[in-house]
Amino acid sequence: MNSFLLLLLVIVVAALVAVGLAVLRARRSLPRPVAPRAPIRRALVVYESMYGNTQRVARAIADGLSGVATVDLIEVGEAPAELPPGVDLLVVGGPTHAFGMSRPRTRADAARQAGARVISERTGVREWLASLRPTGPATAALAFDTHASHPRFFRHIGSAAADIAGSLARLGFGVAAAPEHFWVAGSQGPLDPGEEQRARAWARGLLDLAAWQPSTASSPRPEASSSTS
Ligand SMILES: Cc1cc2nc3c(=O)[nH]c(=O)nc-3n(C[C@H](O)[C@H](O)[C@H](O)COP(=O)(O)O)c2cc1C
Repeated sequence: MNSFLLLLLVIVVAALVAVGLAVLRARRSLPRPVAPRAPIRRALVVYESMYGNTQRVARAIADGLSGVATVDLIEVGEAPAELPPGVDLLVVGGPTHAFGMSRPRTRADAARQAGARVISERTGVREWLASLRPTGPATAALAFDTHASHPRFFRHIGSAAADIAGSLARLGFGVAAAPEHFWVAGSQGPLDPGEEQRARAWARGLLDLAAWQPSTASSPRPEASSSTS
C-alpha cells in the first residue's frame, strides 16, 4: 500500500473513533430517566423556535397531553421564571444550534439566514433555564429538540435536548424519559413527514407511564381539558 493510502486510512479510522467517542460521551452524560411519581394533571410546555418547526412539535406535544391533563403552551420569551403552582410536568424544547442549545449568536445567524424575523428572537431555552427557579423531583420533566435530519449514525453527536435534559436534572426535576429528537429537512424545515404524529404519541406515552405507577394506578384520571396557545 502506498504511503498516501495508508495516511488516508489512518485519518478515516481516527475520525470514526472520534465520532464514536463523542456519541458515547453524549449518551453517558444523559440523566437516568425517573418515572413520574403521580398521574400528570397539569403540564406546561415551553418551546423556542426560529422558523416554526419546534413550535409545531410543541403544539403536537401539548395536543397529545391535553387528552388527560390541563396544558399550557408558552413560547420561551413569555415563560415565567417560576413554575405556576400545580404544574406536575414541564416539557421544554428548542432547535439544535451548533450541536446544542441556541445562543444569541446562533439566533442572530438564524434570523440572517431567514432574512426575516424569527419566532423566538428575544431569548432561548438556555437563558430561560438559567433563570428558572429549582424544583423537587416530584415535578416531572421532558426534553425535546428539532435537528436537521442527518444520516442515523450522526444524529446523536450534539443535541439541544440532551443539554436541556441535563439542565432540568440539575434544577431538581425528575426527568422522565430520554431526550427526544424530531427531524426537519435542512435548516428551515419543513418537519419530516409523520413527526407531528410521533410527537403527539411520545407525549401520550409518558402519561400512560405515569398512570401505571403502582402507588397511583387506582387514582381516578383527571377530567380532560386544555388551554393551549
Ligand atoms: C445557526 C444554526 C445552527 C444549527 N446547527 C445545527 C446543528 O448543529 N445540528 C443540527 O442537526 N441542526 C442544526 N441546525 C438546524 C436546526 O436544528 C433547525 O434549523 C431547527 O431544527 C429548525 O427548528 P425551528 O424552525 O423551530 O427553528 C442549525 C440551524 C441554525 C440556524
